[in-house]
Amino acid sequence: MSASQKFGRILFGGDYNPEQWPQEVWYKDMQLLTKANINEATINVFSWAQLQPSEERYDFSTLDQIVKLLTENHFEIVLATSTAALPAWMAERYPDVTRTDFEGRHHRFGGRHNACPNSPTFRYYSQKLAEKLAERYGHLHNIVCWHVSNEYSGQCYCDNCAAAFRVWLKRQYQTLSAVNAAWNTNFWGHTFYDWSEICPPNDLGDAIGNDNSTLAGLSIDYRRFMSDSILQNYQDERRAIRKFDPETPITTNLMGTFKGLDYFKWAKEMDLVSWDNYPAYNTPTSVTAMNHDLMRGLKHGEPFMLMEQTPSQQNWQPYNSLKRPGQMRAMSYQALAHGADTIQFFQLRQSKGATEKFHGAVISHADTDQTRVFRETAALGKELQHLGSEILGARTPAKVAIIFDWDNYWALEYASGPNIRLKYVDQIQRYYAAFYRQNIAVDLIPTDLSAEALAKYDLVVAPVLYMIKSGVADNLTTYVKNGGHFLTTFMSGLVDRNDNVFIGGYPGPLRQLMGVWVEEFDAIPPEKHGQVIFTDQSAYECDLICDIMHLEGAQALAHYGAGEFYAGSPVVTKHNVGQGNAYYVGTQLAAAGIDHLVGQLITQFSWEHFTTPTTVEITCRQQANARYYFVINNGNASETVTWPYTGRDLLSQAPVAQGTLTLPSYGVKIIKVQV
Ligand code: GLA
Ligand code: ZN
Repeated sequence: MSASQKFGRILFGGDYNPEQWPQEVWYKDMQLLTKANINEATINVFSWAQLQPSEERYDFSTLDQIVKLLTENHFEIVLATSTAALPAWMAERYPDVTRTDFEGRHHRFGGRHNACPNSPTFRYYSQKLAEKLAERYGHLHNIVCWHVSNEYSGQCYCDNCAAAFRVWLKRQYQTLSAVNAAWNTNFWGHTFYDWSEICPPNDLGDAIGNDNSTLAGLSIDYRRFMSDSILQNYQDERRAIRKFDPETPITTNLMGTFKGLDYFKWAKEMDLVSWDNYPAYNTPTSVTAMNHDLMRGLKHGEPFMLMEQTPSQQNWQPYNSLKRPGQMRAMSYQALAHGADTIQFFQLRQSKGATEKFHGAVISHADTDQTRVFRETAALGKELQHLGSEILGARTPAKVAIIFDWDNYWALEYASGPNIRLKYVDQIQRYYAAFYRQNIAVDLIPTDLSAEALAKYDLVVAPVLYMIKSGVADNLTTYVKNGGHFLTTFMSGLVDRNDNVFIGGYPGPLRQLMGVWVEEFDAIPPEKHGQVIFTDQSAYECDLICDIMHLEGAQALAHYGAGEFYAGSPVVTKHNVGQGNAYYVGTQLAAAGIDHLVGQLITQFSWEHFTTPTTVEITCRQQANARYYFVINNGNASETVTWPYTGRDLLSQAPVAQGTLTLPSYGVKIIKVQV
C-alpha cells in the first residue's frame, strides 16, 4: 500500500494559519471551510516563535486549541514542525543559526528558509521542537502526516559549514591527495597541503559568479555536501518524531526541478513525496506535467501529495495572473492525472498583512463564500468526494523513461563553455515535451537504475548525460544488449563524477554503445542556426551545439545541411547493439525534428498514444482492474478529440463511447475503462 492510500480519501485542504487571527475568525473558518468541502488543514508551518517564546519556555496552548477545533470539526491535519523560520531571539542570541551567504555576508534575523544547516544551535533546537510536537500530538488519529520544515533550500558558506565540509570530504576521499586528484588542483596552482586550506566555493573563493567555478569538482562536491547537510536537518527531525510516533508518514514539501537538493537522494528518506506547484501564467502545461512526473519518479512511481498550489493567484511572481474560471480545477486534475493523491492549497485564509497578503486563498479578504474562487473550490471538493478513493495508489503505465540527475544538473551548469544558453532542465524538457505532445506516458528516473530495472522500459532517454558515474555506462549497455533502446544527445559522456573529462574521445564511456566518436562540438550563437536533414529528406532546424562526429558502427539517420564546414556529416545516428538500439542526437533539434524522431520510434513500439489538439492532454493511471484516463483541456477554448475506448466518465457519470469527445474550456473527463 502506498503511503497516500492510507489517507483513505483524497485530502483536500492546505496551509492554514489561524495563529495569524483572533479566535472569533477561527470559528467562522470552520464553517466556511466545511462549506468549501475542505477535509484537511496543514498547520503549524511557521509558528516556532510562538511555540518557543524564549530559550527556556515552550507554549503549546494556541496550537492545542487549533488542533482541538480542527478535530472537533472533523478535519484531518498535516502537522508541520515549524522549523523553517527561526525565532528572532534565537538569531540574536546564537548567531550561528543564521547563514553566511554566497557573497560572504553573515546574516542577521529575517526572512525564512535560512537556517545554517550545520549550526549546532539550530540542530539542537529544531530536533527538540519536533520531539515535543510528536510527544504531544503524534498519537492523535487525525494527524495523518508530518510536514517537516518547509521548502528546504539555499546554501550556507559559514565557518561551521566549512568545517563540516572538510569532514564530509574526508569521509568521501580519505586523503588530501585523493581530493587534489579529484578536483585536478594542479590547475591554476590550487594544490591543497592541509585540509584547513579548503574553503567553501563562494564569491570570496573559487566561484566565478553563480554558475562557474575555478574547480567545478569542488563546487559540485559543495552542492552534494549542502544537499546532504540540509537532508541531515530533515533526518534530525524525522528521528525526533519517530521517538514518539512510530508510523504517521513523514514528508517535506519539495519544489519540482529545484536545483539545490538532490531529490532522488532525499526521497529515500521520505515516507512519501510532496511538492508545491506554482506555475506562472505562461508556464507550458508540459512543464507542469514534467514536474509532476519527476515528483512521482522520486519514489519509483509512487503517488505523491500536491502539498501546495494557489487557488488562484500568487504574489511573488512578476505577473500574478488569476487562474481563469475552471483552470484551478483543470490543474488539480492534471496533478491527479500525473500521480497526485492529494489536492492542497496555499492557503485556506488569505493573510491580512505582510508579504503574502495578496497571495490567493480559499477564503479571501472579502471574508465570504460569495467569491468565484470559493465557489470553484467548493465545487471541486464536492467532485473529489464523489470520486472517492478509487484512484488512490493508482500507477502510471509508462514504457518510456527520461533520466534526470542532480549531479548532471550541477555539473553541466558549472561547465564554462561551450554555450551559455545550455541549461539542464531545458534539455530534459525538450524531450519530455515531445512525448507529452503525443500523450505518451513518461517516467522520470534516476541515473543509477540497474539494467534489470531499466528493462521495464522500451526506451530510455538521457538528454545531455554529461556526467557518467561509475556503473552507469555498463548498465545502459547491458540494457540495450538485452533489447532496450537508449537515446542520448550532444554533451553526453564527457566527464566522470568529479567533472574530469574522459580522455580518449567523446562520448567517453558511451562511445562504444553509441557507435560514434564526437571529435569536436561547435557552439551556435543565437543569431545563427543549422539544418538537419533526415534520410527521408525531411529537414529541421538545429542550434545551440553541433557535434562533429564520425561513425564507428552506427548508421546515420540524419546529416547536417549546407552552410557549415561540417555539412553532410552525420548528426543523428542509430547503433544496433545486441537486441536493442542506441540513438545519438548530436545537436539541439528543433521541436519538429524531435517529433519526427519520436514519430519514428512510435511506429516501432506499441505505446499507447493519442493525437490531441495542443491544449488537450490525455494521461493514464492504472489500478489492477481499471485504467483511468484523465482527458484535460488546459486551454480556454472548446476542443474536440478522437477517443478510442468504451468507458464511463467518473465526473459526470455518463457513459463514454468510442468516437469524439468535446471538452469545453478547461474541461475535464476522467474516463474509467475496465481492463
Ligand atoms: C511556498 C511556501 C508557502 C508560501 C507559498 C506562496 O510554496 O511553501 O509558505 O509562501 O510559497 O506561493
Ligand atoms: Zn553554515
